[in-house]
Amino acid sequence: MVHLRGRRGYPPPRASRRQRRRGGVTAWDPRALPSLAGRTVVVTGGNAGVGYFTSEQLAAAGVRVVIAARSAEKAQLAIDSIRSRVPGAELAHVRLDLTSLASVREAAEALAAFRPLDGLVNNAGRVVASRHRLTTEDGFEATVGGNFLGHFALTTLLFPALAEGGRVVGLGSDSTRMVRLEPDDLWSERRYRPFRAYGFSKHAVQGFHLELARRLAAAGDSRLSLLAHPGWATNSYAERRPGITDRDPRGGRIFETLTGWVGQGKDRGAWPAVRAIADPDAVNGEFFGPRREMSGPPVPTTPVASSADPAFGAALWADAEQKTGIRFPL
Ligand SMILES: NC(=O)c1ccc[n+]([C@@H]2O[C@H](COP(=O)([O-])OP(=O)(O)OC[C@H]3O[C@@H](n4cnc5c(N)ncnc54)[C@H](OP(=O)(O)O)[C@@H]3O)[C@@H](O)[C@H]2O)c1
Repeated sequence: MVHLRGRRGYPPPRASRRQRRRGGVTAWDPRALPSLAGRTVVVTGGNAGVGYFTSEQLAAAGVRVVIAARSAEKAQLAIDSIRSRVPGAELAHVRLDLTSLASVREAAEALAAFRPLDGLVNNAGRVVASRHRLTTEDGFEATVGGNFLGHFALTTLLFPALAEGGRVVGLGSDSTRMVRLEPDDLWSERRYRPFRAYGFSKHAVQGFHLELARRLAAAGDSRLSLLAHPGWATNSYAERRPGITDRDPRGGRIFETLTGWVGQGKDRGAWPAVRAIADPDAVNGEFFGPRREMSGPPVPTTPVASSADPAFGAALWADAEQKTGIRFPL
């Protein structure tokens, strides 16, 4: 019997150099997952990309996967694709648009019906931000508003449905190493650049999940908050999944083909998030990423200091509670 519950304590212990070479604190084979039968995990954006492969790999390990996605049609395509590879897989879809707090509330209510939840993978995201500053239905800059604020609201509302020892996993990014965090302009009110806004959204996702880990540890709560990043993961270098890996526009496919060789396919890009859910030895606050940064098997890694700063996490949390009007039950 494999428990999703990991060791507690924050911050997590650092892996030695030898352990890292072996794949982390414990050796980890992403192609030989332990049985996770009987578990239920929600994957936001589980219809495409890294989220799709996360769902497929978890389903293959026996997890009942609930795909939270904005399009019922795309979610069904993903469900059919997974079922064709994992006969008998238990899968469901719940509608979720992260750029609408009303939609997040409805989704949280529908997802709570699957309780107790063993995991919530906060994967969905607007990766290529719009050329001009757009806002969510509730009036917040759309990239930070969807990628971070939508997930903050979803996690907060779903937290009571999370089982003892359950896990929340956020999708961080190496863009946080390229975009300097400016906490006083997180919502791009002063200046808007698409990649800057995307980098800010990922700083916020990392800051949120690390703050959650600190709060869980302080409260002595058995639930875990973790992070994962896929490196540079493309559909061009992933195993083919008709209608899913070939959905990018032509320009995007050419870009991915030209640059993706330094990274890996989205199937492998899913490995760090899958490890965060499946590794029984994962610890609260741990961050998994590819061993060679852009590619490779999933190993423990470290977030940039600015995302991990407790002062940033605390301010972000207060701002998110104020903007959503939702208080975290901790
Ligand atoms: N790929 C990489 O190299 C890379 C690197 C670092 C971090 N990441 C992170 O990994 C995660 C997945 O990336 P990916 O490359 O797999 O992206 P992707 O292929 O573009 O897929 C994004 C997913 O998010 C969904 N989504 C976007 N906006 C949404 C919204 N408002 N409400 C609900 N769902 C929404 C999309 O739904 P639709 O199908 O309806 O559009 C899709 O399912 C993201 O959080 C990203 O920041 C990726």
